[in-house]
Amino acid sequence: MKLFEFRNFFFDRLEGVYPEEEILALFRVVMEEVPGYKAYEITLRRDEVLSDGTLDELLKITARLKAEEPVQYIFGHATFMGRVFEVDENTLIPRQETEELVAWITEETPDAELNILDIGTGTGCIAISLAAALTRAEVYAIDISSKTLEIAQKNASSNHVDVRFMQRDILKTTSLNDLFKASKDQRFDVIVSNPPYVRDLEKQEIKNNVLKHEPSQALFVSDRDPLIFYRKISELAYQNLSPGGKLFFEINQYLGQETKDLVASFGFSEVVLRKDLSGNDRMIKAIK
Ligand SMILES: C[S@@+](CC[C@H](N)C(=O)[O-])C[C@H]1O[C@@H](n2cnc3c(N)ncnc32)[C@H](O)[C@@H]1O
Repeated sequence: MKLFEFRNFFFDRLEGVYPEEEILALFRVVMEEVPGYKAYEITLRRDEVLSDGTLDELLKITARLKAEEPVQYIFGHATFMGRVFEVDENTLIPRQETEELVAWITEETPDAELNILDIGTGTGCIAISLAAALTRAEVYAIDISSKTLEIAQKNASSNHVDVRFMQRDILKTTSLNDLFKASKDQRFDVIVSNPPYVRDLEKQEIKNNVLKHEPSQALFVSDRDPLIFYRKISELAYQNLSPGGKLFFEINQYLGQETKDLVASFGFSEVVLRKDLSGNDRMIKAIK
């Protein structure tokens, strides 16, 4: 099969599953990952006959995309803040909104000897990006899932930063002091979390590739108590932050005011709600 014939096949197979511009974007990713062709080369090589091995691989990938498997899981990596992170079905694929949160934290945080904690680290994308940007900081990160933490540890190594990863269920944690190795009297200067926040009632808005393939433990909370993580983390953060220390959250866009009020109720001196680039309430900063 020639390359342009495969292109036609790819578009036919995925029509109706993804919008046309997304099919084109996926085609470019697949061509770059498998035969290694950049977008501009695809047209130049349109009449090239694909080898049997390449075609076989391309057909398998097309079938996985048709089954709505995220392209990042198919190739095993995603990009976040310009860095490459390994991902698999145990880890949430890092999102652009979370890049905006990390950018806010680095704007607001001096590169000093600070203690930083990331709660629900997933791929480690937040913790690792902060460790890379704030080179004098000591970065700690926790997650409930040991499989997720294995990937996060690999990502720290491949990105050449040190992060202290630990397995913890934050909902069963009574104090953050015991995370410190050196001294239990230490305090965190920055605590950040992008916890699960999608309510069950919002499942109908979620695309199939997310619903069917991304870990539900990373995404969903019950309709009954959607702010459960924000309540627990705000309480722990207020106890464990140093004076003037900052708490950052990524939040559910539909619960901006409720989340802000909840965080403020723990006694933080200043609580700021910020929108993402799409204009949705998406993040909170609170100062102790
Ligand atoms: C929305 S994902 C965020 C992942 C990553 N920080 C990011 O921004 O891409 C939430 C993460 O919280 C973790 N998590 C869920 N419940 C938890 C709990 N009770 N204690 C600690 N981590 C938890 C999940 O395993 C998942 O990695």
